Amino acid sequence: MDSVTLVCTASLIAGGLYWFVCVFGSAERKGKHASQLSGGSIDREKVQDNYNQYWSFFKKPKQIEKTENVPAFVDTFYNLVTDIYEWGWGQSFHFSPAIDGKSNLESTKIHEQMAVDLIKVKPGQKILDAGCGVGGPMRAIAAHSGCNVVGITINEYQVSRAKAHNKKAGLDHLCDVVCGNFLEMPFEDNSFDGAYSIEATCHAPKLEDVYGEIFRVLKPGALYVSYEWVTTELYRGDDPEHVEVIQGIERGDALPGLRSYSDIPEVAKKVGFEVVKELDLAKPPSKPWWTRLKMGRVAYWRNHIVVMVLETIGVAPKGTIDVHQMLFKTADYLSRGGETGIFSPMHMILLKKPKQEES
Ligand SMILES: C[S@@+](CC[C@H](N)C(=O)[O-])C[C@H]1O[C@@H](n2cnc3c(N)ncnc32)[C@H](O)[C@@H]1O
Repeated sequence: MDSVTLVCTASLIAGGLYWFVCVFGSAERKGKHASQLSGGSIDREKVQDNYNQYWSFFKKPKQIEKTENVPAFVDTFYNLVTDIYEWGWGQSFHFSPAIDGKSNLESTKIHEQMAVDLIKVKPGQKILDAGCGVGGPMRAIAAHSGCNVVGITINEYQVSRAKAHNKKAGLDHLCDVVCGNFLEMPFEDNSFDGAYSIEATCHAPKLEDVYGEIFRVLKPGALYVSYEWVTTELYRGDDPEHVEVIQGIERGDALPGLRSYSDIPEVAKKVGFEVVKELDLAKPPSKPWWTRLKMGRVAYWRNHIVVMVLETIGVAPKGTIDVHQMLFKTADYLSRGGETGIFSPMHMILLKKPKQEES
């Protein structure tokens, strides 16, 4: 091979690799390139250890049930998955029903805007996003409502990602993000005009702890809406297949234990809320939320090749392949949970903190 052919071939390979990793393998407005995958706030040489440690929690299930261990366990999980979520899924870390004629991004936004419409807040008012991720919902909600949104997440790395996205979107004057535990929030009593949480309170070991905190920081008369991950009325604890699916979801999503849909209003009432409305948004006439996961199988294999190459050549930290594989297995459990109807990630509950004179 002469030198001209060699240079041309090498350039083609390098160009193709760049395109595969940075263009094809990157995001429709996701904010992360494959070449930037990291372990969040974890040093790159400790990613594999942290992944192993994450799994070791499940060898001692009693340990994760202890309230004090759960936030650290959830924090580790989000260090491991945040970049992969952003790269492979987007800036909103939740599901939404498919809508005919709408893209995934549009359906996601509609699902988020519905949350703020339900809590009936006005422009300029202050609302809380409990468990805000990297702030996809927060930005859609701030832009739609004109409210000031304060998000809280347990994960420091997500705070930096959310702040960078807020600035880039020109929404940092409306959106603020705090690193903290929603089981003991650093906010004053009666200080928010409304609150929402999207697929986040499922990480609380005891729902009453996070609902109690949200109740405390809301002004009397204010509304709170949550999209809860639950097992539905179709779930049977004596069916081994149901148990396998639900355990698979818990293990691959850092959940201390999924709750039954029927427990949610009971806990809400116990901490003092009035239940205004409750609806499983996954049920017909909604279109399935899990089709996006099933259609993502091809993208998964493409991404998995990218991850294997990047970890092998030392661009992505060791452990990234394992984390990516864990998420793929979990996607399968989630799809099975959706298809069988035993699991919903969007059991909506709208709650009101009573006005003082009513309580
Ligand atoms: C599935 S993500 C959803 C994020 C966001 N709501 C969205 O839809 O994009 C769950 C979020 O809950 C947060 N979270 C879990 N446990 C928490 C805790 N104890 N305190 C604060 N945030 C927590 C995680 O850090 C993560 O940001």
